[in-house]
Amino acid sequence: MNHSLLDIENLSVYFDTPEGVVRAVDGISFDLAPGETLGLVGESGCGKSVTSLSILGLIPTPPGRIKSGRIKFEDRDLIGLDTENLRRIRGRDIAMIFQEPMTSLNPVLPIGRQVAEPLMVHKDLTKSEAFQEAATWLDRVKIPAARKRLSDYPHQLSGGMRQRVMIAMAMVCRPKLLIADEPTTALDVTIQAQILSLMIGLKQELGMSLLLITHDLGVVAQMASRVVVMYAGQVVEEAAVTDIFDQPFHPYTQGLLKSMPRLRVRGDSRSQRLNEIPGTVPLLTEVIRGCKFADRCPHVFKRCRQQQPELFVIRNGQRARCWLKSYPERRTT
Ligand SMILES: Nc1ncnc2c1ncn2[C@@H]1O[C@H](COP(=O)(O)OP(=O)(O)OP(=O)(O)O)[C@@H](O)[C@H]1O
Ligand SMILES: [Mg+2]
Repeated sequence: MNHSLLDIENLSVYFDTPEGVVRAVDGISFDLAPGETLGLVGESGCGKSVTSLSILGLIPTPPGRIKSGRIKFEDRDLIGLDTENLRRIRGRDIAMIFQEPMTSLNPVLPIGRQVAEPLMVHKDLTKSEAFQEAATWLDRVKIPAARKRLSDYPHQLSGGMRQRVMIAMAMVCRPKLLIADEPTTALDVTIQAQILSLMIGLKQELGMSLLLITHDLGVVAQMASRVVVMYAGQVVEEAAVTDIFDQPFHPYTQGLLKSMPRLRVRGDSRSQRLNEIPGTVPLLTEVIRGCKFADRCPHVFKRCRQQQPELFVIRNGQRARCWLKSYPERRTT
């Protein structure tokens, strides 16, 4: 597709550590159309945050380095773009809600100033215009008595409110792309639902694209139209949301779905019990010849340990990195 807003092609990001080279992201490709919401899912440590930080040019170098690939945003490759241009794109065209609220909120600055600043930097608003607009945004993200809270410091807010301030900060410049890295993980279920519906509303209003990073497939089902599943730094499956839930192909995706709590019944701990995928993610310093999921896969056979599968087309819009595509007789379930 040539009409994507964001097009990541064969991106590899490595970290040089005393334990060896960590292949955190290892040849991933995906794209995102204007207005689309793409869910990026996978277990802890599979490279979701590293992918998003790469888009914004925020990989600490060293120890990190972009080993290969292209990150095309509109018509430009963000890799290798000079700091000045990157800074301009960051905040104005691409905004991010970070996994750790305190990474993006400055503890010693009042929140009003923090929400207003991008408007002064990117949109040339005067200080009073920017503060006016900041108050409007704090109100829109449902911070009670927003105008009075402009002078509050982050520590004076609850976790859910801090998350809202981050959303306001990300949205003020009306970005074309919002990257949200686990925007609701730290929040309780009620607040989580409020934040998600807030994001859906703002997204529709602004017509922006959303890259939603989470390990919660329930959140994906609610928000995204397409899903990319990552495992150990690679894309292992990509599909429309409906296909991922109805006909997941990769055994890893199937495992993730089985580990998803089916019902969240209040006060019933049994309904929360998870069916976890046995085993652990391989060390990313290891060079694995075959499929990276082989050690945990219920369907593993000889070829899986010998040769890395490519991303095979399963059906229209669905691809999976699994040899079962070539050996359908081995699919037992
Ligand atoms: N600065 C760093 N130095 C060394 N290794 C790093 C660094 N940053 C990330 N990594 C490694 O890269 C891998 C991918 O990490 P990443 O943070 O992208 O995972 P994630 O999918 O976001 O996980 P989570 O769901 O826990 O947020 C991990 O093995 C991590 O240890
Ligand atoms: Mg992360």
